[in-house]
Amino acid sequence: MSTHIVEGRFAGARVIVTGAGSGIGKATATRLLAEGATVIGTDISVQRLTELASELGSDRLLTVAGDISDETVVAEVVQIADGEITSLANVAGIMDDFLPPAEVEDALWDRVLRVNLTAVMRLTRAVLPGMLERGAGTIVNVSSEAGLRGSAAGAAYTASKHAVIGLTRSTAFFYGPRGVRCNAVAPGATITNIQAEFRSPYSTERMGPYLQTNVPQPASAEELAAAIAWLLSDDSSNVNGAILPSDNGWSVI
Ligand SMILES: NC(=O)c1ccc[n+]([C@@H]2O[C@H](COP(=O)([O-])OP(=O)(O)OC[C@H]3O[C@@H](n4cnc5c(N)ncnc54)[C@H](O)[C@@H]3O)[C@@H](O)[C@H]2O)c1
Repeated sequence: MSTHIVEGRFAGARVIVTGAGSGIGKATATRLLAEGATVIGTDISVQRLTELASELGSDRLLTVAGDISDETVVAEVVQIADGEITSLANVAGIMDDFLPPAEVEDALWDRVLRVNLTAVMRLTRAVLPGMLERGAGTIVNVSSEAGLRGSAAGAAYTASKHAVIGLTRSTAFFYGPRGVRCNAVAPGATITNIQAEFRSPYSTERMGPYLQTNVPQPASAEELAAAIAWLLSDDSSNVNGAILPSDNGWSVI
């Protein structure tokens, strides 16, 4: 499905996009640049960021490579943004190999919660002072179908994506009256490079039938970027604390 660029919608805006090297983050960075923003794109993969920069060839794209759950990388991103950050798209995330609660591994749990949740909190915390000083700003977090139900991923990913919704609502509640809006997109199946394998036979047996019968056709990353851009833009000025499924209707099943 093709999406339409709204020319100039982000003219003058400075937007941080995490996970900008691939999938939904890459599509979001690409779209925001096309709509006039300066984009600070971050990713843990140097190679992906280098490819993005050469593909887009824009002097409005600044990049920071590093693990966004690391506080020093967060500080670097904010520093590179140099001044006003108008918007933040927390897109980077990782999967959990569909491990059910009885089989969760500590290292995997810690990593998934750190990247999918703690990083979102840290970057949000870092950009809020400037946004609050100006009385304006928009934040979009990427949750998941797994933030809405228990049958879409393993325990760690499901917990992290539910928690992202809690953080989104908390941010919206505390700072909406001070001009900062925070919303989330909950993607269903989307064609990207995200890695996940079924490592648990029980998980395959239990989840398999749900995934086979309930999951609609996957979306393109560009369709998700369109929803994220809308929530970041003034076009959604009356929307705060919303969780927007972009999932071809999966969430109504
Ligand atoms: N693809 C789907 O079906 C789907 C469904 C629901 C939710 N999501 C969510 O969408 C978001 C984007 O995922 P995607 O599908 O585009 O995946 P992707 O793997 O294609 O892109 C994610 C990018 O994030 C980067 N990244 C991973 N860990 C990082 C870290 N610690 N610091 C900085 N960058 C890091 C990766 O290098 C990668 O380039 C994630 O939060 C994911 O959970 C995806």
